[in-house]
Amino acid sequence: MRILFIGDVVGSPGRDMIKEYLPKLKSKYRPHMTIINGENAASGKGINEKIYRQFLELGAQVVTLGNHTWDKKEIFEFIDDAKFMVRPANFPEETPGQGMVFCKVNGQEVAVINLQGRTFLPPIDCPFKVADNLIEQAKKRTSIIFVDFHAEATSEKQAMGWYLDGRVSAVVGTHTHVQTADQRILDNGTAFITDVGMTGPYDGILGVSREAVLKRFITTLPVRFDVVEGRTQLNGVIIDIDQKNGHATAINRILINDDHPFFD
Ligand SMILES: [Fe+2]
Ligand SMILES: [Fe+2]
Repeated sequence: MRILFIGDVVGSPGRDMIKEYLPKLKSKYRPHMTIINGENAASGKGINEKIYRQFLELGAQVVTLGNHTWDKKEIFEFIDDAKFMVRPANFPEETPGQGMVFCKVNGQEVAVINLQGRTFLPPIDCPFKVADNLIEQAKKRTSIIFVDFHAEATSEKQAMGWYLDGRVSAVVGTHTHVQTADQRILDNGTAFITDVGMTGPYDGILGVSREAVLKRFITTLPVRFDVVEGRTQLNGVIIDIDQKNGHATAINRILINDDHPFFD
């Protein structure tokens, strides 16, 4: 089974990249399943129902989230009905939404889990312990388990990769918006990358206008972070999984921008 995962889609520039390149990526790589991290899909902060539905219509099977899950008030009106959206599973128990979703593709169920790190992010439940519980539940239904670990620290993401090695098919990092070049299959068959990167503006700073981010760093004053227009990029990974045992056999990065053009 082949899974395409696309890193944090930022605002309309990111959504435009999905519209333009998802069909091309699908015809080039023929994934059985596409997962999109949509935590920044609505104007850089959060997601709304229209965008969630648009991702599904464009051919994604599951949308994952992160620390920006609650940024749009509208999320509370549809998250419990959004069957193919996952927010970090280690949010407090009373939180709306779900942290794991099952989706049937290529004749087999895939469990998709979203977790959030605790280093340099708000304190929440232990992502490692929550992962243990969810994997135990998921294993009753499928051996194909995909984890989007939304975290800031590279060490915490590598730690999660090794913690889950052999127990899940893939652990992909999101949140930093910068793609790392360390994709590999870990010793016991889990595909891993510290961060998949982002999909959206190419010329800003993590998707936000350079001027705004610089003003914040230099003056420390509160600054409004707007999604920047101009050139765009798409960051993702393609992961191949052996359906018999759920182990990954390959992980490859996708990077599309003016410096790394896409070839059909
Ligand atoms: Fe993000
Ligand atoms: Fe994030």
